[in-house]
Amino acid sequence: MDASEVEALRAAGLAAFAAATDAAALELVRVEHLGRRSPLAEAQKQLGRMSDDERRSVGALLNGLKGDLTSAHEARHAALEAVELAARLEAERLDLTGPARRVRPGRPHLLTQVEQEIVDVFIGMGFSVAEGPEVESGRFNFDLLNIPPDHPARGTMDTIYVDEAADLVLRTHTSPVQVRTMLTQEPPIAVVCPGRVYRADAVDATHSPVFTQVEGLLVAEGVTMAHLRGTLLAFARALFGEDREVRLRPSFFPFTEPSAEVDVSFASASGWLEILGSGMVDPAVLSACGIDPERYTGFAFGIGVERVAMLRHGVADIRDLYDADARFLAAF
Ligand code: DAH
Repeated sequence: MDASEVEALRAAGLAAFAAATDAAALELVRVEHLGRRSPLAEAQKQLGRMSDDERRSVGALLNGLKGDLTSAHEARHAALEAVELAARLEAERLDLTGPARRVRPGRPHLLTQVEQEIVDVFIGMGFSVAEGPEVESGRFNFDLLNIPPDHPARGTMDTIYVDEAADLVLRTHTSPVQVRTMLTQEPPIAVVCPGRVYRADAVDATHSPVFTQVEGLLVAEGVTMAHLRGTLLAFARALFGEDREVRLRPSFFPFTEPSAEVDVSFASASGWLEILGSGMVDPAVLSACGIDPERYTGFAFGIGVERVAMLRHGVADIRDLYDADARFLAAF
């Protein structure tokens, strides 16, 4: 190959690179002029058969050609990229004068709202909030609450054990927070204990293995069941309306004596709906928690937050409260 042939290849290559109008065309030109089967590559393969002098001069010509074609390719490649970038920027141009996209504010989940409402009612009556761990010792969840060793609530059918040997359970109620409070505070005590609780329940429209309680505890001198009734009446009226009445029905809990189920008047078949359990703190519980039952008395109650939320907002299925369905949640 002589100088004029190299010159012809150079001219053809430079023209072809300059004429490529997109990446695909450019690649074809590259293969044709710089690829393994290009005239340049073929000519380079011949170098081995040449005399030293010839190889030196032709090799220099070919190297020069290769350098020029490579530069032409790179320059064209850069130019095409710049064009493409400019086109993309133009296409994706942001119109900052356009109307802003609406930001949809989030809100607390219905259960959180109702829990807060319940807690607020009691804060308004002078209670403070106490919280405790969801993984609890059986001692606080059962023993100190006067729940005997053979009580069915302790069975694995009802209770979810984290580590039975270590006496660790998922708390079945927030009552252990009452215990923790009595163990660390002197009366007068007035606390509400909101939080998640766990039971080995099968799931249906009204049961869930995880649910939410707000329990309350008041311990002081001279506390009677009249105080319990008055407090719960005020609560029912604050939450459901000033025309409500409450009704206490005898019941049993190991940790209260006497115990009562509390109904609120509703436009229901019987005229009443049960919303919570309550009672006078059993003297055995006070003693176990280091409080003198001869001097102090107290009442306690436990409210199911899901139940209140369902009654107040007409939610028919408890599972709706746990499915993260934004259409349902947006209604509240
Ligand atoms: N711990 C009871 C439950 O989970 C509810 C309850 C009833 C709590 C009476 C109390 C109480 O503090 O005094 O079913």
